[in-house]
Amino acid sequence: MSKDKVTTAAIRRMKAEGKPVTMLTAYDYSLAKIVDEAGIDMILVGDSLANVMLGYDSTLPVTMDDMIHHVKAVCRGAGCAMVVADLPFLSYQVSVAEAVRNAGRFLKETDAQAVKLEGGREIAGAVRKIVDAGIPVVGHLGLTPQSIHQLGAFKVQGKDEQAAQKLIDDARALEEAGVFAVVLECVPTLLAKKVTEVLQVATIGIGAGPYCDGQVLVIHDMLGLYPRTSPKFVKKYVHLHADIAAALKQYKKEVEERSFPGPEHSFSMSEEVLAKVY
Ligand code: KIV
Repeated sequence: MSKDKVTTAAIRRMKAEGKPVTMLTAYDYSLAKIVDEAGIDMILVGDSLANVMLGYDSTLPVTMDDMIHHVKAVCRGAGCAMVVADLPFLSYQVSVAEAVRNAGRFLKETDAQAVKLEGGREIAGAVRKIVDAGIPVVGHLGLTPQSIHQLGAFKVQGKDEQAAQKLIDDARALEEAGVFAVVLECVPTLLAKKVTEVLQVATIGIGAGPYCDGQVLVIHDMLGLYPRTSPKFVKKYVHLHADIAAALKQYKKEVEERSFPGPEHSFSMSEEVLAKVY
């Protein structure tokens, strides 16, 4: 039975019916295909590709062209899953016109169905214009890695009354501006629960506890593939870094002792033909 493509209407319906939304990041064709085949609802081509794919220390250096390149590859692997493309640092903050143009590039140049951007009231005007252009938007509140130098550190956001109220006000502003979902990153469980109750649109948590409408993780973290330290909120479902390292060691050993390639990996030819060449 072929499943339908996940749409914004489907995500809204899942929130209304209390069905958890699943989201994972992916940055290339092969992993996107595995994510899609696992039935994950949404694939986020996050600007976290700066860290996990390109080896930068922050998400700040990644460009629109980097993003487009990876979003195209992911879209080739995504069947039913909705592909959400992350607007990178400085692609939407300078002016509303630039925000709309860059969001539009994802829909024009790739098969992504939605974009994500970080921030609250200060970007609500840009969100409204992007939505008015017919582009579905996911918001992102709490720990917003593009503002790392302003936040000072990767730490839990919204812990005191003022910060918690600001986060709720920002969430309301994003909903009013037209987002169909909001990522909540590194937020206390009870604050994420409150935001989830206040909003009509789905909340998708990462380090925001179990009461969000959905969950997202960076795929390299949850597969144990990223060589650097992962945050406390990551659950490692496998340890691919160690598994891959063991496989590579085995390959090196077999090549060095000439046990690979074996006959099953090699091609035969007639010895008579071979005898005629010199
Ligand atoms: O870039 C990213 O992967 C993200 C997730 C952490 C939500 O924004």
